[in-house]
Amino acid sequence: MADWKNLDQLDSYKALVEDPTRVDLRSALAGEPGGQRVRDYSVPMAGGLSFNYAARQVDDGILQKLDALAKESQLAEKFAELYNGAMVNTGEKRLVLHHLTRGQLGDPVIAEGVDKRAFYVEQQERIAAFAKRVHAGEVTNAAGEPFTTVVQIGIGGSDLGPRAVYLALENWARAEGELKMEARFISNVDPDDAVGVLSTIDVAHSLFILVSKSGTTLETLTNEAFVKDALVKAGLNPADHMVAVTSQTSPLAQNSGYLAAFFMDDHIGGRYSSTSAVGGAVLSLAFGPEVFAAFLDGAAAMDKLSATAEPLENPAMLDALIGVYERNILGYECTAVLPYSQALSRFPAHLQQADMESNGKSVNRFGEPVDYVTGPVLFGEPGTNGQHSFYQLLHQGKNIVPLQFVGFRQNQSGTDVLIEGSSSQQKLGANVAAQIVAFACGKDDDDPNKRFDGGRPSSIIIGERLTPESLGALLSHFENKIMFQGFLWNLNSFDQEGVQLGKVLAKRVLAHNTDGALAVYSELLGI
Ligand code: F6P
Repeated sequence: MADWKNLDQLDSYKALVEDPTRVDLRSALAGEPGGQRVRDYSVPMAGGLSFNYAARQVDDGILQKLDALAKESQLAEKFAELYNGAMVNTGEKRLVLHHLTRGQLGDPVIAEGVDKRAFYVEQQERIAAFAKRVHAGEVTNAAGEPFTTVVQIGIGGSDLGPRAVYLALENWARAEGELKMEARFISNVDPDDAVGVLSTIDVAHSLFILVSKSGTTLETLTNEAFVKDALVKAGLNPADHMVAVTSQTSPLAQNSGYLAAFFMDDHIGGRYSSTSAVGGAVLSLAFGPEVFAAFLDGAAAMDKLSATAEPLENPAMLDALIGVYERNILGYECTAVLPYSQALSRFPAHLQQADMESNGKSVNRFGEPVDYVTGPVLFGEPGTNGQHSFYQLLHQGKNIVPLQFVGFRQNQSGTDVLIEGSSSQQKLGANVAAQIVAFACGKDDDDPNKRFDGGRPSSIIIGERLTPESLGALLSHFENKIMFQGFLWNLNSFDQEGVQLGKVLAKRVLAHNTDGALAVYSELLGI
């Protein structure tokens, strides 16, 4: 059994605190030795990706200390306990089983009398069979016409991951002739979200997937009612147009008003549910079950690599260790995810939930306050757009923000043009290479306004092309990085009590059970 200790109780952490080394990236990346460092500080990932950390603020000495930290913190042992079915989600008294949706890393996990891997595979097979029937025109609307659009209704983990993955593969699927149905998403309780989507689709040929693990989320149930109302107004029977994805214990599971229902369970956190039925239904309908299976294979391969006990050969563990070093030793408060791939436009938004809902905690897994900082504030935008937005602060602001770039050698569509001697893809790649060096090395200038201090750390995940496999690997990398950071900080990364208070107060406002500030704010908002 692993020993769950606070970060500041570990000798290897104390050794890091006492180590005065501060790697100067300007000199580390200078000249030929700098080039060699870029070649050396790289570790292969699954899905044809590699993790290059040459521009992170570490050297061999710090890496050795991080290696010791990983071992003293028993990161590999804790991951093994997790995938073998230990109750790692102490707050909610649940297992943490999202890895089982894409492979069996360890022993069979039996819970509620069921082999959980078999249960998730069974749901995938049910979804695959349903998707194939929809694509074959065997499941149709009441007029016997095929469904052409799939619309997911859900929020948080029931929206962000599946949406990010759909967008990441939409153009790839178009280029490969794999786009079976267009997907749209309704998440916000703002009626303009549902109206906006409904006004641009043909509801008569749309299949709606209601996704809610709990089956109780107010926004999602409200949007379901909104959509059902629109269907009725169009003279359609909602039951012919809706499927549900939920947990078997949720109130939705008992509802017969759906064409079909697919299940996940309480052992899969919402933000980790993209590889469960939550992502499986929409992605299998949009791209076909084979593409979803390839995405799962990429994630499974990366999970396997994440189980490697050697930190320097385990990219997710290494990324997590360096991130904790940046947060707790160097004192950096934020981190940015900057994919140089338009397809990954919503990936930072997904990681925002995955990371900040997991590790934005002040008490350890036993409910005791911790005396060190935990999860960073995460934000991001695709490059090069971000360059024309917030990079000014990243280059010359007072905060140092460690950056996580993602880049590919090829685009998804295979279409490009040569302008001024280079293709758009080359311009994209040139920008990310330039940014890494500009952030790290800076530039001197007599005019302080034009001076770049440099010393701003980054890493980059590089791949050949964003495909279902490489996307699965990318998702797993970040999920496992977050998990390892939670282990290091001794947090329960799998509950989210911090979202509850706002929900309770909103209910009070709607019930007009308010006083004081809450009453006045409600009044100001016209409720
Ligand atoms: O509000 C937070 C949250 O509980 C997330 O963790 C979750 O992803 C989201 O709400 C949606 O929950 P559900 O799938 O149960 O509707």
